[in-house]
Amino acid sequence: MGGQGEPIIRFEGVTKRYDDDTVVLDNVSFEIERGKFYTLLGPSGCGKTTILRLIAGFTEPSEGNIWLSGRNVNRVPANKRQVNTVFQDYALFPHLNVFENVAFGLRIKRLNKQVITEKVREALRFVNLAGYESREISEMSGGQRQRVAIARAIVNEPELILLDEPLSALDLKLRTEMQYELRELQRSLGITFIFVTHDQEEALAMSDEIFVLNHGKIQQSGTPIDIYDEPINRFVADFIGESNIVSGTMLEDYLVEFTGRRFECVDGGFRPNETVDVIIRPEDLEVTEPEAGQLRVKVDSQLFRGVHYEICCYDSAGNEWLVHSTRRVTVGAEIGLAFDPEAIHIMRHGETEEAFDKRLEAYQGAGHAE
Ligand SMILES: Nc1ncnc2c1ncn2[C@@H]1O[C@H](COP(=O)(O)OP(=O)(O)O)[C@@H](O)[C@H]1O
Ligand SMILES: [Mg+2]
Repeated sequence: MGGQGEPIIRFEGVTKRYDDDTVVLDNVSFEIERGKFYTLLGPSGCGKTTILRLIAGFTEPSEGNIWLSGRNVNRVPANKRQVNTVFQDYALFPHLNVFENVAFGLRIKRLNKQVITEKVREALRFVNLAGYESREISEMSGGQRQRVAIARAIVNEPELILLDEPLSALDLKLRTEMQYELRELQRSLGITFIFVTHDQEEALAMSDEIFVLNHGKIQQSGTPIDIYDEPINRFVADFIGESNIVSGTMLEDYLVEFTGRRFECVDGGFRPNETVDVIIRPEDLEVTEPEAGQLRVKVDSQLFRGVHYEICCYDSAGNEWLVHSTRRVTVGAEIGLAFDPEAIHIMRHGETEEAFDKRLEAYQGAGHAE
């Protein structure tokens, strides 16, 4: 147990290599604060499960240090760490009933019978499974098994729970329900959750903080709004939501050229004439008369999505522009697209979070306001 300000987890330059020299995590550093809901988000194979395994102690780092509550745990085995994991397949014991599945860890700790019964009942109440104590696991639905797995983790009153894609086996409706429930559970227990998913909507809906991973590196970390609004590079922008991404040139501070035209923008700190990626979110584009917008495009297709139309257009250079609009358009027609300078996000090619922070510091240090 560390001091109050102490992060519950700290990774310091952690690299994980397997025998054949493949680098699965590449010099990863981060801190996890107590009591928050964190999400590791990234495509399959990016290293999410590896990070959980390192935290839980199922595998050791090849380089770097891992600290849990201020204590270096590089050589501390899994059973000596205060960490509970909810696995993707739940890993319940099929031959034990619900009560015994949840009680398992407490029995190993040799708590007395009455304490065990009370704790298990309370954990099951927490996940809305009161009364299911004597059910067999085979009689439980996917969502119920999921809850048993969570009850089994919280019954030990850990400081930290790791959840490895726990909702991926559930259908969409149940999944959405469980997202709410998990989030509520985390808030009411005040335990630190580290949740893994490859689903960006799930990450945005549930998290206090998100780490976006790709190829064994943290691409960006921040709140859902930070990451959605200010993606740091093309990978994050693409992965986090539907985006229009085109190549451009930063002519000078606050002036960018793309699709052969110049636009005022709010970004600075690039080299003169640096090539950049330019992003505009579909909901930031407004449909206008053909002459009235900054871009002139032709409508290729239109889908009604319940609240808005999703309109796909092309400009004369062949760039695709996706638009979310409540206004209906005509397929094949020419329309204009208008947007504010704030809607234009400029990203340096392949820039990492670290490099971005350094650039921002240098830029502000040189006397520029934010
Ligand atoms: N025991 C292992 N030996 C060799 N390579 C592994 C091992 N475990 C995982 N990997 C590789 O490490 C990479 C990251 O795996 P993982 O952390 O499971 O990704 P994710 O959970 O993000 O899908 C993958 O390319 C995977 O094939
Ligand atoms: Mg995984």
